[in-house]
Amino acid sequence: MIPILDLKVQYDALRDEIVEALLQVMESGNFILGPDVKALEREVAEYCGTGYAIGVASGTDALRLSFAALDIGAGDEVITTPFTFVATANTISHSGARPVFVDIDPATYNLDPDAVAAAVTARTKAIVPVHLYGQPAAMDAILAIAQRHGLHVIEDAAQAIGAEDKGRRAGSMGDCGCLSFYPTKNLGAYGDAGMVVTNDADLAEKLDILRRQGGKTKYYHSVLGFNSRLDTMQAAILRIKLRHLDEWQEQRREAACRYDGLLAGSTTSSGQPLPVVTPFVRPDVRHVYHQYTLRAPRRDALADFLKQRGIGTMIYYPLPLHLQGLYADLGQGEGSLPNAEAAAREVISLPMYPEITEAQQQEIVQAIVEFYQ
Ligand SMILES: Cc1ncc(COP(=O)(O)O)c(C=O)c1O
Repeated sequence: MIPILDLKVQYDALRDEIVEALLQVMESGNFILGPDVKALEREVAEYCGTGYAIGVASGTDALRLSFAALDIGAGDEVITTPFTFVATANTISHSGARPVFVDIDPATYNLDPDAVAAAVTARTKAIVPVHLYGQPAAMDAILAIAQRHGLHVIEDAAQAIGAEDKGRRAGSMGDCGCLSFYPTKNLGAYGDAGMVVTNDADLAEKLDILRRQGGKTKYYHSVLGFNSRLDTMQAAILRIKLRHLDEWQEQRREAACRYDGLLAGSTTSSGQPLPVVTPFVRPDVRHVYHQYTLRAPRRDALADFLKQRGIGTMIYYPLPLHLQGLYADLGQGEGSLPNAEAAAREVISLPMYPEITEAQQQEIVQAIVEFYQ
């Protein structure tokens, strides 16, 4: 059996350290926004190359609070990708603004800047690029559009902590960046957790107030806030894991490189190359391979075949957001965003985690070869 990801190997390696840290938090009795949260915020800000980081309850809340802090709401339009996890867009909807889905670049699966530019209207307030699978969106072009029209840029960096575009870390390029520490992420907690990173001191202050029920001082509330605080136990776990993150990112990158080589070097028995498309990485980008995602003909049959061989795969994402029942009233029907729709039909993510072995990867690629035989 080769799972799509294996959290147990990582836990086994860090078990003693993590148990000790959790015991210390329990002894301290300081469970919410405790000293480990403050320390983690400093460490993550430094890791992301930002001045500030605000720990919140999840990646979803990182987005939700960012929209609130930037006064995005009713009457506003926010341009984003339909080829992402639903939280990118449902948080826009919860703010009262309208998500405007535009098509993706078929090579990277990220927002197509030309499509973004074409969708700007007088109501547009912000752009939300998603750094899908761990590769930054085309930030130079997106930031240029934002600057031209005076728009906010909120980076959905949930899948991309540590990814870089021309040396700039994911989350540090827009007004703010939203991180998820969902357990399966490159830096994963043992529960829900998230963070907003930013270089804007005022925005950081607003986010801090918003996460504490809208008040800096207990029982005094200046704005309409939320309860969205990072808990100390998750922060203690994340601090331990953060020390290993760069090593894990390199292991992911090495694993991706091995997949690339194995897939490119394989042929079917008739000597044909495999008909799969391996990830395209933009120049000047550090991809952190949250996922290793292929474009594959007969994708669903391939997934079934690999499952029978005990190999886990996932489809991120099978239905683009503009075609979800949730967004039927936007009127962006089938055929309106063809690149996103084709990606949803064709992508498949292979097992990817730092500890995956070359032997496991050979077995996976061998099974793919057999499928296309
Ligand atoms: C692209 C994207 N945005 C937002 C989120 C939401 O993060 P969370 O699950 O921590 O709320 C996720 C992760 O699940 C994600 O992958």
